[in-house]
Amino acid sequence: QNYTERYRPQFHWTPAKNWMNDPNGLIYHNGQYHMYYQYNPTGDVWGNMSWGHAVSQDMIYWEEQPLALSAFNTPAGVLGEFFFSGSAVYDEFHSSHLGDSPPLVAAYTSYYPNNVTLPNNQTIRGGTQCQSIAYSNDDGLSWIEYEGNPVLALPPSPYEDQWKDFRDPYLFWYGKGAYWVMVVSLPQLHKILIYHSTDLKQWEHVSEFGPSNAVGGVWECPNLFPLPLKGNIHDIKWVLMAGINPGGPAFSGASGTQYIVGNFDGTFFKADPDSDYDPGSGNANWVDYGPDYYASLTYNGLANYERVAITWMSDWAYGATIPTSPWRSAMTVPRELTLEKIEGQTRLISIPHSNLQKLKNGPLLYANHWDSATGNISLPVSGKQLEVSISFRAGKNAKRFSLGVRTGGKTSGTLIGYDFTTQRMFVDRSSTTDDSSFSDDYKGIYYGPLQTQDGVVKLRVFLDWSSVELFGGRGESTITAQIFPSGSDTGLSLFANGEVIDINLKVEALASIWT
Ligand code: FRU
Repeated sequence: QNYTERYRPQFHWTPAKNWMNDPNGLIYHNGQYHMYYQYNPTGDVWGNMSWGHAVSQDMIYWEEQPLALSAFNTPAGVLGEFFFSGSAVYDEFHSSHLGDSPPLVAAYTSYYPNNVTLPNNQTIRGGTQCQSIAYSNDDGLSWIEYEGNPVLALPPSPYEDQWKDFRDPYLFWYGKGAYWVMVVSLPQLHKILIYHSTDLKQWEHVSEFGPSNAVGGVWECPNLFPLPLKGNIHDIKWVLMAGINPGGPAFSGASGTQYIVGNFDGTFFKADPDSDYDPGSGNANWVDYGPDYYASLTYNGLANYERVAITWMSDWAYGATIPTSPWRSAMTVPRELTLEKIEGQTRLISIPHSNLQKLKNGPLLYANHWDSATGNISLPVSGKQLEVSISFRAGKNAKRFSLGVRTGGKTSGTLIGYDFTTQRMFVDRSSTTDDSSFSDDYKGIYYGPLQTQDGVVKLRVFLDWSSVELFGGRGESTITAQIFPSGSDTGLSLFANGEVIDINLKVEALASIWT
């Protein structure tokens, strides 16, 4: 396998072959970053859901590992149980008494397609989604399902009727209270349930949150984590982040990821007024405004208040038909999350993880400054895996400024830029020579709000063989989009509609993680 197939991402994680969706069980432990993920071991569309596994020293260079949890080998028989999304923790004080020494413990959703009686004599109705745990005593390589599973067989009263939609447990240790917290979604009701436990096996339902903000689709894959506001560890806020599908910001039918900032006292999550909108009011806080950012998960096991997210870089609207082979789907680059006040509002900031610097081992490809520009500027540089940084300001009648990537042939490529008239950045993948026949939902232009900073617009772009990730300003607005351009279109250009001034451009090559 040399990872040079058409569209193969060069610095984003993809499994060698087959279908992948959500990241699962992200944990840093004993000097290794683990990434598990929803995986079909035998096909390139969703099915036979198992946990695939990769490990890394830096979240940039990964090595694929054997399956961690396999639907072909479950307590309920072959394909009697699917391992849906979940998370993992290190049970440092051995509170679970699972295994011989402090284990890693994963919580995940067991989906049972058919009626089944488990080895422990529990009977399960076909179609059930419930929460289970597994533990590992060999640093996350192999996992043993707890014999008392499921640990949460049914949603709590009065939501028992939601037994077919109850999923995606997110675990963390709440130090102040010395207990474990599990956050689980009731997707159809747009509710997040909060549970406590002291042994990871017995769980008590203590509170719920929602509906709130965007509710145009199911709520899935919740995360709840603390972050210092403006880096001040005496001002800790909590962020609830969850997927919504459909109902995302990119197009009607899109998957998306929203967040709500508030407080968590160990039992109740309460949203801040400036982050809390009436459900369905059309307002929401989006982590990313693009079409390909879903089921975001953050790492456990990092230093206090260090938060890193990895996210499935696709969309349920067309994930199963994107024109890649023999794998389907990639993860985003790891992103560091922080909280800042911007224009008076508390905003989640995402920036590309600093470890990505490791990929810049070549010479600077191109840098330039223009005092003023109007119209088209073709650039003497090309490439398919690049970091491009650009800053600029509005001149006379400035309307739009865009960077074209993957230009060539008869098209202007994928356009990435800023619209001064509406104060939004954008990614436009609508008018390229892209292979777009796989879905009517693919072509489009995606906007993220972005205020200038002292008049300056700052954009940072990570371009890979089949994706762009755009970070605007300080990272308060991001747009992630897959692209499938013709292999020969590798050009870059600038286009100013109206006058744009004080332009600084830097283009850097990024190394492949596969060589
Ligand atoms: C989100 C999701 C989760 C579920 C998993 C199944 O993309 O639908 O809610 O656990 O995928 O693969």
